[in-house]
Amino acid sequence: MISRATIDSVFETARVEEVIGDFVQLKKSGSNFKGLSPFTDERSPSFMVSPVKQIWKDFSSGKGGNVVSFLMEHEHFTYPEAIRYLAKKYGIEIEETEQTSEQKESANERESMYLVTDFAKDYFHNTLLKTEEGKAIGLSYFKERGFTDETIKKFELGYSPDSWDAFTSHAIKKGYKLEFLEKTGLSIVKTDTSTGSATKMFDRFKGRVMFPIRSMSGRTLGFGGRILTSDKKAAKYLNSPESDIYHKSKVLYGIFHAKQSIAKEDNCYLVEGYTDVIQFHQTGIHNVVSSSGTALTPEQIRLVNRLTKNITVLFDGDAAGLRASLRGIDLILEQGMNVKICTFPEGEDPDSFSKKNSLEELTLYLEENSKDFITFKASLLAADAKNDPIKKAQTIHDMVASIAKIPDVIKREVYLRECSRIMDISEQVLFNSIAQLLRKDQKEAAKKEKKTQEPFEVVSSEKNKPKKVDVQFELEQKLIELLVLYGSMEQEFEEMVIDKNEKGELDFKAEVFESRVFEKIYLDLQDDEIEFTNPEFKNIYSEIINRYVENPEAKSENFVNQMAPEIAAGVTNILMEEERYVLHDWERMQIFVKEKEKTIAQVVSETILSLRRFLVAKKIDELSETMKNDQDFDKEAGLQEIVAYIGLKKLLSDKLNRVL
Ligand code: CTP
Ligand code: MN
Repeated sequence: MISRATIDSVFETARVEEVIGDFVQLKKSGSNFKGLSPFTDERSPSFMVSPVKQIWKDFSSGKGGNVVSFLMEHEHFTYPEAIRYLAKKYGIEIEETEQTSEQKESANERESMYLVTDFAKDYFHNTLLKTEEGKAIGLSYFKERGFTDETIKKFELGYSPDSWDAFTSHAIKKGYKLEFLEKTGLSIVKTDTSTGSATKMFDRFKGRVMFPIRSMSGRTLGFGGRILTSDKKAAKYLNSPESDIYHKSKVLYGIFHAKQSIAKEDNCYLVEGYTDVIQFHQTGIHNVVSSSGTALTPEQIRLVNRLTKNITVLFDGDAAGLRASLRGIDLILEQGMNVKICTFPEGEDPDSFSKKNSLEELTLYLEENSKDFITFKASLLAADAKNDPIKKAQTIHDMVASIAKIPDVIKREVYLRECSRIMDISEQVLFNSIAQLLRKDQKEAAKKEKKTQEPFEVVSSEKNKPKKVDVQFELEQKLIELLVLYGSMEQEFEEMVIDKNEKGELDFKAEVFESRVFEKIYLDLQDDEIEFTNPEFKNIYSEIINRYVENPEAKSENFVNQMAPEIAAGVTNILMEEERYVLHDWERMQIFVKEKEKTIAQVVSETILSLRRFLVAKKIDELSETMKNDQDFDKEAGLQEIVAYIGLKKLLSDKLNRVL
């Protein structure tokens, strides 16, 4: 187990904006940062990070929390994984407390799969560099391809020995369980059904050179293994099978090494293979990732979309299925990204081309040959058959279909003009045809919507009703917000006491006293024996009060970082509620300006009084209700009680008016 001291020092050091900045492109927006939600497919930013409060909130998915909960949500880390990740990032040494065998046992399954994958990565890498077989076969292969030692180390390339179970046996000897070796696909386990007994284990990647595949944050998820013999029957590349930690459609090879450069260059090169990525790096271009030979998926595009809006797709010179690959481009356009396409000369792929050329030459080539997708599609036609009217019509349809995918209306119009110019066809015709396509899309979308909604008819009509404001909920929430944000602040509170005035009549007299905000709230609520009704708030409230009692100087960031994740998430929601207004620029529309003019003390008193008055009014309602329905109820006593409550309510209203 990681010691409490380590966890504390991780929280003290880690900056939420820096950590999230590695995954999401953040732009400064007032005192906060804004970006595209990494959890949904949105086009306008609703993801907020507050450096002051050290929290984040994603208004499109509703998720939010502190730096650790971000890593748990985004990287699917467990709590300890997230702490370890942060410790590594900030160079904090991890102090471990003794682990019992039971704790070791219960370390969860995914963690075990990560561990065995990481172990395998190191094993293959060491085998490549340190063993005779690895050096003679694997290393010499990479050297022949022109990879330097530095490159081999950077990508942690490896070699899996050419024997049936060299890796598997070694891993088992080291204490890794066969279960996880099998689950990660590193080993293949076969039970001999004829005898029913002995299980046999094989290394999946026997005799292959290994390419570890890493997540955005650098964890090893799986491998690609390239065969070295020219066996026609065996696949050139073998990849880790889908597993709980490796989802092929959600990873891009090279993203870990490319992410910073993609954001900085504001462009991402997309290539087909592992070796294309590696050779580009070696030549000096780092903003490059590979879809590993499969059709691009929306999840993969989303990974890039977080870092930049611009993708340049690089195609081999002899790409046979070029037209088929073009479909991936529509997917990119659909996500509102800008696509360029660059092809290489006949017989070259990004790997071979970058190996032959210097960084200057490669950069110049990419600059000069990257074409806008429209121009590119048009040039395909020129190469095909310019005078073939059928093909020409088909190409135009194809271009229009792509343009229709662009969500931005203005961009769409610009491309339409461009298309009209290049293909020499009237804008009006193109415009009509795109309108037709869009209408068709809309109809289909509507149909889909209807289908999916039918079983929930009741729910959806309910949803359209204006939401009833839950006053008690809002007031309780407001109190917690005040506690978290200003709890330790010393404020002057005015207490209204009833006293005789100069004329000898009973009247309110203001007495000023100084108190910390949390003490004022706590004592007032205790006086009236007020308890929060919302169970989540109730938990948060007692947790926060305890912390202030322990340390009256406590700061809101500390709360969010030290509380149990469920409670911290609740606090974040409350804290970020006010940021929503900033996000929507409501502040500029002067909706909340009035509130800002009050002092903290005024807002605190007002909120407590409002809650008390609300509870009293509720009590009055309840009493009259009981009196109406319950025959045995002592009407006399009930009435007296109601009168007393009405008096109290009036008193509270008067106090409230004084405060305001
Ligand atoms: N690929 C795969 N399985 C195969 C063939 C290819 O997963 N049987 C994937 C690999 O990720 C590979 C990419 O598709 O990197 C591109 O394939 P290809 O161009 O054939 O391989 P290269 O990367 O060019 O490899 P090499 O230069 O070593 O032949
Ligand atoms: Mn190649």
